[in-house]
Amino acid sequence: MEEKKASAGARVTQEAAAGQAAAAINSMPAALTTFRCPLDGRVFASYADLVDHYNAEHPDSVVPITVTLTINGKNCEILLEPHWTLKQALQFKLGLTGAKHMCDRGACGSCTVIMDGRPILSCQMLAAECEGAAIQTVEGIAADPKWKPLIDAYCKWDAMQCGYCTPGFLVTAKCLLDRNPHPTEAEIKTALSGNICICGTYPRHSQAILEAAEIIGKGAN
Ligand code: FES
Ligand code: FES
Repeated sequence: MEEKKASAGARVTQEAAAGQAAAAINSMPAALTTFRCPLDGRVFASYADLVDHYNAEHPDSVVPITVTLTINGKNCEILLEPHWTLKQALQFKLGLTGAKHMCDRGACGSCTVIMDGRPILSCQMLAAECEGAAIQTVEGIAADPKWKPLIDAYCKWDAMQCGYCTPGFLVTAKCLLDRNPHPTEAEIKTALSGNICICGTYPRHSQAILEAAEIIGKGAN
């Protein structure tokens, strides 16, 4: 009875997570309608007006730039400072908090996203360099029913403790399964070698990914 209750609770949580991910994607802004000065909060109707404002009021400061990112299949225009990373843009401009801030120096994999089919570290990529690329975050994976078996397997095998590193592992795992639908345990370990888990959940990731690969493979046949 206790086991049934637990699994029912887990299902509700997974469905809620997929709903939250879809809601987060829907809430991302599509196009800029106003241009807010990050230094004094004044709002302008056009980018040209903001540039004029910088020239008049903040002549020694770097003018923010507009960037259009393609995130989870949606084009999003944002205003940001040129040195901002993709991770900062996702978190602070688009409200996507799945890519996690841990080391902020390319060492832990917690901020992993997929860019044009390859896993990348969003803390090491300038947002301005990502224009024109197709970026997928853990929210996009969680909201896609195709990848529900991967999320389910992570829950079933309890492949997380605090969960802070989990989005990065999930993104890397999805990327692996995209290019290798039936990986061996050794291939999984190699693919995940750039993701660090301070809680030490490593053995469970392989179990979860092997099971997800089998279920996804059966669904595809
Ligand atoms: S936060 Fe980006 S690699 Fe650690
Ligand atoms: S589950 Fe805590 S850091 Fe990985």
